[in-house]
Amino acid sequence: MSTAINKFDEGMRRRADRVGMTTVHRGELLRHPVYTRLLHWLVAIAFVLSLLSGFALYSPWLFRFLTPIFGGGPMARFLHPWFGLFFDIFFLFQFLNWFAPMAWTDVDRRWLNRIKQYLTNEDKVEPADVGFFNGGQKLYFWSIVLSGVLFIVTGLLMWFDHVVPRWIVAVSYVVHDLAALLMLAGFIIHIYEGTAAMPGTFRAMTNGTVTRKWAWTHHPAWYRDVTGRDPREDYEREKRGQAERQRVIEEREREGEF
Ligand code: HEM
Repeated sequence: MSTAINKFDEGMRRRADRVGMTTVHRGELLRHPVYTRLLHWLVAIAFVLSLLSGFALYSPWLFRFLTPIFGGGPMARFLHPWFGLFFDIFFLFQFLNWFAPMAWTDVDRRWLNRIKQYLTNEDKVEPADVGFFNGGQKLYFWSIVLSGVLFIVTGLLMWFDHVVPRWIVAVSYVVHDLAALLMLAGFIIHIYEGTAAMPGTFRAMTNGTVTRKWAWTHHPAWYRDVTGRDPREDYEREKRGQAERQRVIEEREREGEF
């Protein structure tokens, strides 16, 4: 990525950090600075509004309960392209912000080969080479890039349908809907992964921090980079500590102290 974009991105991060605040407590690590969090939630709001207004347009009968939110059918029709445009603009900034850590590497290819173990929770901790983002997160990111491009191209063709040949508009409808389906599937998995599946993840996008334990469990190589410590060693130490605490509790229970 060119240095001009890097400088721009750095400048935006600094400006956002001056306005917002991230407090990193003991035992925590900074995961996402204010700028990243702000962009993430702007993207999310624009996406949800696009999705809901899009549903209302896709099937006005099935989703008739949604149109009143936007002030009726014609208003939903008017607003949807604007929500989509804002989604793409906000995501463009996030793209520039995350382009580097989202680069696909051999580590991600290996991660993908082990997807079954990941999904079945076979291992308590991620493989030692998993860095800031894992292969699944990167796939999600790049699927948004692809959908974002498809949305803007087909969206503009449909928006200005009076000057575009009819068959191109017809194809655009199909491609637009397919991109929306891909995004919807990714969105559902993303919410699950960012909340219920991995406790302690959601705060990365609210407070901006995660616990060290979370970091060595899910992103060991990143943990090693930012702390200079061995994630496996810290995991084993924590496990021993927990076993010891459990042993003391059980001993006291036996002695009738509790
Ligand atoms: C509205 C519900 C959402 C929740 C609860 C949520 C939660 C999160 C969290 C906690 C992270 C940080 C993960 C980490 O640091 O490892 C994250 C990252 C991310 N979010 Fe969201 N998010 C939501 C909506 C969205 C939407 C609508 C998009 C885009 C369409 C999006 C795109 C991303 C991307 C690309 C990342 C980085 C890669 C990843 O972690 O998967 N998010 N999100």
